[in-house]
Amino acid sequence: MSEALVLPKIERKQSRLHGYGVFALETINKNKRIIDYAGELINNKRSESREDRYLSRGCIWVFRVNRNWSRDAAVGGNVARFVNHSCRPNCWIEVDQKTKTIWIRAAKQIRKGQELVYDYNTDGDKAIPCKCRPKCKTKL
Ligand SMILES: C[S@@+](CC[C@H](N)C(=O)[O-])C[C@H]1O[C@@H](n2cnc3c(N)ncnc32)[C@H](O)[C@@H]1O
Ligand SMILES: [Zn+2]
Repeated sequence: MSEALVLPKIERKQSRLHGYGVFALETINKNKRIIDYAGELINNKRSESREDRYLSRGCIWVFRVNRNWSRDAAVGGNVARFVNHSCRPNCWIEVDQKTKTIWIRAAKQIRKGQELVYDYNTDGDKAIPCKCRPKCKTKL
């Protein structure tokens, strides 16, 4: 019998990086699956106009699954949509291409109280200056 997947406890709260972020409420071991990035599965042709609309308000909600599909967390998203970007992340992304599930996983041991961050790896407009650290030159 397969073991039930118990996900670690996390919370959304104000972040120093931007707006809300997501924080660990307990120690999370390396590689542990933390949460899936939920959202409506949409074809990339349809996603572009939505992405432009969100970006005009300074927001990135659409996660590219592959060359055909994206998930739009603005529709049916969960708390994962508040996970901020860092160029020095403590989480990594695993995509199950069969189910198109996007898992946020721990890249190292994450202590209680630390903010969860992953590398957005954006390839779009590069309109938002990254605030992951002073003088970071990355644009999201
Ligand atoms: C998926 S949302 C993350 C949640 C967001 N903090 C909020 O409160 O809505 C992505 C947006 O957060 C902001 N963001 C995330 N990481 C950032 C960073 N390292 N530097 C600057 N802005 C960031 C950008 O505006 C981006 O469009
Ligand atoms: Zn950065």
